[in-house]
Amino acid sequence: MITGAHAGKGSEPLRVDRAGHGAGHAARPLSCLRAVIVAAVALAASHAAADEAATGPATLRSRLAGADVGVALGGRLPGDYTAAELALVRDQFACLTPENCMKMQHLQPEEGRFDFTEADAFVAFAEANGQRVAGHVLVWARDECTPGWVFRDGDGPASRALVLERMQTHIRTVVGRYRGRIASWDVVNEALAGDDDNDNGDDNGDGNGDGNGGDSGAGDGNGGDGGAGADEDDTLLRPSGWEQATGTEFIEKAFACAREADPDALLLYNDYNTDLPRKRARLLRLVRHLLDHGAPIDGVGVQGHFELGGVPYERLEALCVALGGLGLKVVVSELDLAVVPRHRWWADGGAHREEMRQSDPYAAGCPDEVLRAQADEYGRLFALFDRHAGVIDRVTFWNLHDGRSWLNAFPWDHVEHPLLFDRECRAKPAFDAVTTGR
Ligand code: GLA
Repeated sequence: MITGAHAGKGSEPLRVDRAGHGAGHAARPLSCLRAVIVAAVALAASHAAADEAATGPATLRSRLAGADVGVALGGRLPGDYTAAELALVRDQFACLTPENCMKMQHLQPEEGRFDFTEADAFVAFAEANGQRVAGHVLVWARDECTPGWVFRDGDGPASRALVLERMQTHIRTVVGRYRGRIASWDVVNEALAGDDDNDNGDDNGDGNGDGNGGDSGAGDGNGGDGGAGADEDDTLLRPSGWEQATGTEFIEKAFACAREADPDALLLYNDYNTDLPRKRARLLRLVRHLLDHGAPIDGVGVQGHFELGGVPYERLEALCVALGGLGLKVVVSELDLAVVPRHRWWADGGAHREEMRQSDPYAAGCPDEVLRAQADEYGRLFALFDRHAGVIDRVTFWNLHDGRSWLNAFPWDHVEHPLLFDRECRAKPAFDAVTTGR
């Protein structure tokens, strides 16, 4: 549902129809000289139009050399989307991620009862538009995001073997169904313990506790290989039924099983805040462990839920270098850039939450200077993606436009403006900064 106020005064409607520009001419006599000048200008304009017709206007689709720009879409496709939204999806994005319909609790709410209705429609929509699909997600390592039956056996807890068997059946069924049709899979999501004790997201429902920016000392350039902060015997994984039953084995087996079910899909481990020192160290420990044990991991999904003023450019860059050095790809899997700071939500034991719940600073629209600052930060991020083109395989925005963003309800209800398009599907300054560098 589209909610909230209109964004961005002064933003131009995006030309999604690729129509020609034919402006009318004044119908009065021209002097010879003027006629020559007008003819020359018209010729130049027609060349420009021909160039644009040949290459098309700037789009996100063609923005990154050798990497897709994608978008995550919730709800049913195409029925839950307006014509303008569908045009945006088709024109701008090369790859689609289902926001929810491929999560385990949606696909297999009860053991053995699979429901592929929405997921099939999603894949069919992408295929009809010549777009790739990024599968999300096979195992989400949070108990509140996993159907309860996975961990139960009658009245007692399921054994390690039963949990693994259920996981493998799920993966085989889902990945096997879309074999050759889904380009990549988030095989395991959010299994790592947090960067600190506050970000395990225990009360965050479907979201996550990505308290980025505030506690992270942006720009510390932690460019080593990830030893900082986490000892070898430090906790690696967040507590969950998966971890309790199997340790790290569920991760190893999940990758092996996904590879068997579709040898050609790019297999990713996906998580948030992995640029922060302790979590980054845990991530690198995990991927080295997986590589050492022959688990077929191809890359890491770096979620990328950032907030204005808190984008950790240097640490992101260092992460690309570290993961690239291990022979892995990086996918920026859930990109957005919130304009309403949220990191204090997790600070001081949640002491600021009541106050923050009352706060909705951009309910009536996002001021131009904030949109400009957001544009600069998005532009800088894409320049970083260009610098690491050999490592970055895809950049996916988490939701289509500001009105569709999950952040309007996370971690409290407020009007957010985190994406490249406003609530009317108009390109924001950030779109121009990303596509044309302006
Ligand atoms: C995490 C998950 C996503 C989604 C977002 C919030 O990042 O990986 O599937 O639930 O939270 O929308």
